[in-house]
Amino acid sequence: MIASVLPTYSRAPVAFTHGSGCWLTAENGSRYLDLGAGIAVNALGHAHPALVAALTEQAGKLWHVSNLYRVPEQEVLADLLVEHTFADTVFFTNSGTEAAELAIKMVRKYWYDKAEPRTEILTFEGAFHGRSTGAIAAAGSEKLTKGFGPLMPGFRALPFGDHDALRAAVTRQTAAVMIEPIQGEGGIRSVPDQCLKGLRDLCDETGALLVFDEVQCGMGRTGKLFAHEWAGITPDIMMVAKGIGGGFPLGALLATEDAASGMTSGTHGSTYGGNPLGCAVGAEVMRLIANDAFLAEVNRKAALFRQGLESLVASHPEVFEAVRGQGLMLGLKCRAANTAVLQAAYAEHLLTVPAADNCLRLLPALNIPDADITEALHRLDAAAIRVETQAA
Ligand SMILES: Cc1ncc(COP(=O)(O)O)c(C=O)c1O
Repeated sequence: MIASVLPTYSRAPVAFTHGSGCWLTAENGSRYLDLGAGIAVNALGHAHPALVAALTEQAGKLWHVSNLYRVPEQEVLADLLVEHTFADTVFFTNSGTEAAELAIKMVRKYWYDKAEPRTEILTFEGAFHGRSTGAIAAAGSEKLTKGFGPLMPGFRALPFGDHDALRAAVTRQTAAVMIEPIQGEGGIRSVPDQCLKGLRDLCDETGALLVFDEVQCGMGRTGKLFAHEWAGITPDIMMVAKGIGGGFPLGALLATEDAASGMTSGTHGSTYGGNPLGCAVGAEVMRLIANDAFLAEVNRKAALFRQGLESLVASHPEVFEAVRGQGLMLGLKCRAANTAVLQAAYAEHLLTVPAADNCLRLLPALNIPDADITEALHRLDAAAIRVETQAA
């Protein structure tokens, strides 16, 4: 008989009752060190006092009014995002997928209004933009799309890291290029800064819109507020979610005034998007993360963690191959099966997240204490020994 919860996930046999910082406590009372942070969502750890306060204060005042009225909490958060990014305007969603859907609509409407027949959005193999019909068509991989056809037309996935293919594909007929500066689900695969710069140039030459998906790599995860800042360029449109709500469902689509020009009154909407609860939390997250001292700490912690991981790879060459990523968006490319390493880490009460390309993601809270980094390295070492022992 089918489970009462639709069985689309393969879940670990554990349920958590509460969390604090980087630690989760299970129903049986045992504690786990959380390097997954709800897949890069709990950017400030579990039960951060300032976020709990922001949520509970708002909960006592007003939860929902709809977008038929002004929502001052939205305006505060939108102002903060505009102040700290390339964007002139923001639409709030409840998830990354919804932000991706709006990005697609925004691109299409932009060219429709210009009366130019540009409909093709270029994407990249290994990409992940969500699970809606539009987002799976955008990413295009068989793993996401099989059985769900006919797919929405208008996307072409290019090989990852193939400059010649990219140069040939971006033309004056291209509507947009959509890319994660660092692929998350795809296996912590970074697009080098030079390539992002080259892509910006290509888009400028052809007029194609540049869309960054920073749902996973944004909100301080790489040590800058947004990952593309490392390359010194800006997109025209950007999807944000995950970390921006610190665990509360919240997403956003940021855009320049020009890119957003087609999205006039009545062209898009959401019942819950931008509700006062999510925006109150999001504003507090922004105040804490969009701050030079905080980001400097992320970079310091990341350097510490990375150094430890590099030694771990050197000590366990049969288990690990390399460290990938930037800031606290880290990946361990594995030689052993990543699922075996994940299971061994789980046995050490250390939570990690699998990704494609036989990679294990380490996405801790951005404020992870140094002592927890040391503890995580010990547990990863113990996990690697488990895998080596099993293989022997
Ligand atoms: C890069 C990227 N884009 C989009 C999404 C979809 O976001 P959500 O699951 O919030 O809809 C994800 C989720 O993992 C993601 O990593």
